[in-house]
Amino acid sequence: MTKIRIAVQKSGRLNEDSLQILKDCGISIDNGKDQLKATARNFPLEVFYLRNGDIPQYLRDGVVDIAIIGENVLVEKGKDIAVAEKLNFSKCRVSLAVPKGVKYNSVKDFEGKKIATSYPNTVNEYLKSKGVTADLHLINGSVEIAPNIGLAYGICDIVSSGSTLFKNNLKEVEVILQSEAVLAVSPTISEERREILKKIQFRIRSVLQARH
Ligand code: PRP
Ligand code: MG
Repeated sequence: MTKIRIAVQKSGRLNEDSLQILKDCGISIDNGKDQLKATARNFPLEVFYLRNGDIPQYLRDGVVDIAIIGENVLVEKGKDIAVAEKLNFSKCRVSLAVPKGVKYNSVKDFEGKKIATSYPNTVNEYLKSKGVTADLHLINGSVEIAPNIGLAYGICDIVSSGSTLFKNNLKEVEVILQSEAVLAVSPTISEERREILKKIQFRIRSVLQARH
């Protein structure tokens, strides 16, 4: 029997809520936590646990058919990938921040400055639209430490509760985009699997409505 292959974040903020929404859709997944793949017991679905940043490429390559992923990741490296449903969880924003003590006037203050980020395309596009050129430093995690160790003037990263900014003595100065978890679809999904996707979408909509 044909199964639809869904990518879910392996670990991190989306993982738990992603599995929860599948569960609320009545889909039971046997979970050996360290397994990278799992199969649903009562629905034609296989789950692949993957790194967030790798998911757009897996969708493009058709290695998975659908994914639960943050919109921010699609903006950064999956602009070509379609969104089937917004999932109303893991809400966050991608923002620019600078040390609290900095006197900040406008985005022009970033001109010629070093910015540490894991979202280079997102920042570049935003700054370009504002006519600002900055010097981006790509860091994969713990970006907020960069200004404190003299590595950068400011940062661009995800802000959710704001507590990471607060703990690192930073202030949010520009919101580049708002994001939430979405159900994304591979451009190469087969017709047969699209039919399974429709069933999942139908269930997701009822779950979201019931949560409302
Ligand atoms: C993420 C993100 C921010 C933080 C935002 O980091 O990169 O640092 O969460 O959340 P908050 O506003 O609620 O504090 P995460 O803890 O996932 O680790 P990482 O940066 O090392 O990937
Ligand atoms: Mg972080």
